Amino acid sequence: MEYSEKVMEHFRNPRNVGEIENPDGVGKVGNPVCGDIMELYIKVDGGIITDAKFKTFGCGAAIATSSMVTELVKNKTIEDALKISNRAVVEALGGLPPIKMHCSVLAEEALKRALDDYRMRSAKVASGKAA
Ligand code: FES
Repeated sequence: MEYSEKVMEHFRNPRNVGEIENPDGVGKVGNPVCGDIMELYIKVDGGIITDAKFKTFGCGAAIATSSMVTELVKNKTIEDALKISNRAVVEALGGLPPIKMHCSVLAEEALKRALDDYRMRSAKVASGKAA
């Protein structure tokens, strides 16, 4: 099984590892195939994702895709971020071995959940339900 240079590089030096204090959206997902877990945090300002961080308990491909997805979403609008698929993340990494494709789904799902969470929070704020 061969990993691209870029996958190895993001695995060795993952970007944006950690948690965001007072995030505007959080996505937590588990991969049903292997049980690995990812948490993704986003900060949103004026409809733009200004920061993204992650914590992943998982394999090298999960860490590399987590790292890449946080890089890809930064400075994107919510709408554009919603269009980021696991394939886009894999492409940006120069590919993944077929047997590791399921790992990239974790990144897409964590992002989608974080965006959903953001939308739910903003809807609550808009309707005055949040503190
Ligand atoms: Fe679990 Fe890769 S083996 S996410």
